[in-house]
Amino acid sequence: MGLNCALDGPSGAGKSTIAKGLAKRLGFVYVDTGALYRSIGLYVLSKGADTTSADEVVPLLSDINVELKYIDGAQRVFLNGEDVSEKIRTHEISMAASNVSAIPAVREFLLDLQREIAGKNDIIMDGRDIGTVILPSAEVKVFMTASAEERARRRYNELTEKGQSVVYEEILKDINQRDYNDTHREISPLKKADDAIELDTTSMSIEEVVDCIEKLIRKEIKTENEGFRKIPFFRVWFYALIRLIASIPFRIAFNLKYEGLENLPKSGSVILAGNHRTWFDPILIAIKVKYISAYMAKAELFKYFPLNAVIRLVHGFPTRRNSGDVSALSNAEKYIRRGYNLTMFPEGTRSRNGKIGRAKSGVAFIASKCGVPVYPVGISFTGKLHFRSKITVRFGEPISPDDLMIKSMAKSDLRAAGERIMNTIAELVDPYE
Ligand code: DC
Repeated sequence: MGLNCALDGPSGAGKSTIAKGLAKRLGFVYVDTGALYRSIGLYVLSKGADTTSADEVVPLLSDINVELKYIDGAQRVFLNGEDVSEKIRTHEISMAASNVSAIPAVREFLLDLQREIAGKNDIIMDGRDIGTVILPSAEVKVFMTASAEERARRRYNELTEKGQSVVYEEILKDINQRDYNDTHREISPLKKADDAIELDTTSMSIEEVVDCIEKLIRKEIKTENEGFRKIPFFRVWFYALIRLIASIPFRIAFNLKYEGLENLPKSGSVILAGNHRTWFDPILIAIKVKYISAYMAKAELFKYFPLNAVIRLVHGFPTRRNSGDVSALSNAEKYIRRGYNLTMFPEGTRSRNGKIGRAKSGVAFIASKCGVPVYPVGISFTGKLHFRSKITVRFGEPISPDDLMIKSMAKSDLRAAGERIMNTIAELVDPYE
C-alpha cells in the first residue's frame, strides 16, 4: 500500500498546481478527482440533460465509463474511450461538475474508482472530500484555502496569460457561486477533516506551499520508515492492571475455556477480530491477549457517564455503525501505527442466536491500509448464559494481509475480504458448544 496525501479545498485554491509540483518532487502519482466530476458534467451536457436534476443524471451513469491514465507522467481523463482532458476545462463544465457533484449517486459512482487508484500507489489526491470520505486514513491531510478575491485574481491572471479575455468580477462571482454549491450540498460537502492541517495560501507563493506540504509528507515517510512508535511504559502497565482486575468477575462467573493459545499474537499492531456474542467479549479476548489493545465500540456506549470514561480509559473509541464512520477508521489506523493492537467485531452488532453475520467493510479496510494481519477469534456457548456457563474462546491462525487478497479499496473488494475473515471466524465457533 502506498502513502496517501489528501489535498482538499475550495475551487481555485491552487490545489492542482501544488499537487503537480509535489508529485514531481516526491515521485508520487497525482490524482485530480475534479476531472472525474467534470467528465460526468460533460457527458450529461452532451445528452442535453439538466445537470442539477438527479432524475435526469442518474439514468445516464450506467452509460459512463471514466478512466484516468498516466501518459508521460501527466494525468489524462478518458470518457468512454475519448481523451477529454482539455474539453473539460471550460467555464460551462466547471458549473456542470459542481452541479452533478451534489447528486449522491454520482459521488457513490466515483467512490470506488478513487479508492482503487489510491490503494496501489503513493499518491497526492486533490478534491473536496478526500480527507473526509474517500481516504479517511490518508497519512497526510491538508486543507488548502485562500480568500475568494485572491483565488479569483490567480484565475484571472492564468486566463489572461493564456490570451483569453475575461472579466475579473465574473470570475469572482463564479468562484463564490461554486463555493456556495460545494459547501452547502447535503452529501460530502466541502469541509476540513478534523485531522487535516489547514493552510491559508492567500499570501504564500506556490513554491512556499509546495515546500510546506513536502515537509509534512517527508516527515510522514520518515516516521513510517522508523517503524511503529513505542507506547509509553506507564500505559502498558496501567492497561495490564485494568485487564487483570476486569477479568476477575468473569473468571468467577463463567467456566472459561481457551483454545489455540499457540496462535496468540506475539506483538502489537495486529487486529483481533471476533464474532460478537456478549457485551463482555472484549474482556474475554483481553484475558489471554496480554499486549495492549484499543477497542472499537459502538457510539451509543459513549453517551453515558461513567461508562464512556471507562471505555476511553482502555482506549475505546466510538464507531457509528452502518455509516462508514471515517473518523473511527482513522482512529483505528492511528492506534495500530502507534503499536497498539485493535480488538473489533467486524459484524458490527451482537448476534443473539450465535449465527455468524456478514462483516462490514471496516476490518478489511484497516488491515489493508495498515498492512497488518488479522487474528480471528471464535466465541461459543449454547443457550442462555447463567452462573458457571461454559464459554469457549478459540484463537485461530493469523490471516496475513496477502491472504486477504484485497485487490483494491473498492467496497466490493473490502466486503469480499471481510467475508473471508468471517468464514475463518466461523470455523472457530462451535455451534454445539
Ligand atoms: O477541482 P475542480 O474545480 O476541477 O472540481 C470541479 C467540481 O467538482 C467542483 O465544483 C466540485 C466537484 N468536486 C467534488 O465535489 N469533489 C471532488 N473530490 C472533486 C471535485
